[in-house]
Amino acid sequence: MQVPSLDLKSQYNTIKQEIDSSLSSVINSHHFVLGPVVEKLEAELAGYLGVRYAITVASGSDAILISLMALGIGGGNKVITTPFTFFATAGSIARLGARPIFVDIDPETYNISPSAIKESIAGADSDGIKAIIPVHLYGQSADMSEIMAISKEFNIPVIEDAAQSLGSEYTFNGKDYKTGTIGLIGCYSFYPTKNLGGWGDGGLITTNDESIARMIKCLRIHGAENKYYHKYIGLNSRLDAIQSAVLRVKLKHLDTWNQERFRHAKVYDQLLKDCNLLSHLTLPLRKPNRNHIYHQYTLYVHSNKNPETRDKLKEFLKQNQIDTEIYYPLPLHLQECFQYLGYKKRDLPNAEQSSISVLSLPICPELTYEKQRYVVEKIKQFFMST
Ligand SMILES: Cc1ncc(COP(=O)(O)O)c(C=O)c1O
Repeated sequence: MQVPSLDLKSQYNTIKQEIDSSLSSVINSHHFVLGPVVEKLEAELAGYLGVRYAITVASGSDAILISLMALGIGGGNKVITTPFTFFATAGSIARLGARPIFVDIDPETYNISPSAIKESIAGADSDGIKAIIPVHLYGQSADMSEIMAISKEFNIPVIEDAAQSLGSEYTFNGKDYKTGTIGLIGCYSFYPTKNLGGWGDGGLITTNDESIARMIKCLRIHGAENKYYHKYIGLNSRLDAIQSAVLRVKLKHLDTWNQERFRHAKVYDQLLKDCNLLSHLTLPLRKPNRNHIYHQYTLYVHSNKNPETRDKLKEFLKQNQIDTEIYYPLPLHLQECFQYLGYKKRDLPNAEQSSISVLSLPICPELTYEKQRYVVEKIKQFFMST
């Protein structure tokens, strides 16, 4: 049996007619960049997320870059973020000449630790901190109540990196919010593997702030408010109509797909428990006040005195045609390109330990019970033979 990480072909087959007709109307309109289909998508996303402004851009990476630009962040500024995330979160900060300040994660959820943020602000790092970027990793919200309390206390805006969490929710001040809509700005990715994935690159920025929204719209078209009159130095970061046509169809199915992912996650939980694997593995933790949309179903593999256990398990599963992924094998503070920041090994132990322990199993709405059973049987076989 083959178990791929995700199955976009099967997904397409379930919505083929809708997608094909949506695409053919774009092809016939010959309006390919921004325009009416993109505007419709933006309105639908604003409604779905419950925000005033939803502005599409060319990628999730650009969403973070443009958000930072909209806040005027650049050389000499600092931005607090997590080292346990995709590169773009911190790469965007550094590209603008600002300094990423990496703080450690909560080892149970892999999300940024609010107490570590506070320590960093209280410490020598506090001067010039212009933003905090939490990431809602694997599809579960970071501790937004605590993060927003810190934001308020120190008057530092929050840009949420919700690239992996579109559709997940967090209860804040007694109300349910979609992740990415609690801070000042939210950033999302439509990369094909995301829960809402396009057929190419794409991204989204959300905010309830009118002047920031205006600035973002301007920055995505070379800083021009009126064509050929450039108020700011922006970039070309427009979404095309083909992507929007695909995303408009898929948005209608997103909640159902996220529920399916949740259901599969519970099946994995149960199967792994039933196979007595919990002395070898820690299951993904679901924290209260939020729902997990399982962009990834990520296990913590106990090393049992052998630091290579996770990698050996991955290899064993690969030999049995089961795809797994490691998000992320090297935390950002230890990346070569960030050597100039001066971090060293053991500075951020939770992120470092997680990077040698996590393993994401295949998960997607189309996953079957038989495949899940096969995956868990193989995991069991591995631990019985070691
Ligand atoms: C946490 C996180 N931030 C940012 C991004 C960047 O998104 P994109 O690949 O659309 O540029 C991604 C996507 O891979 C991500 O997972």
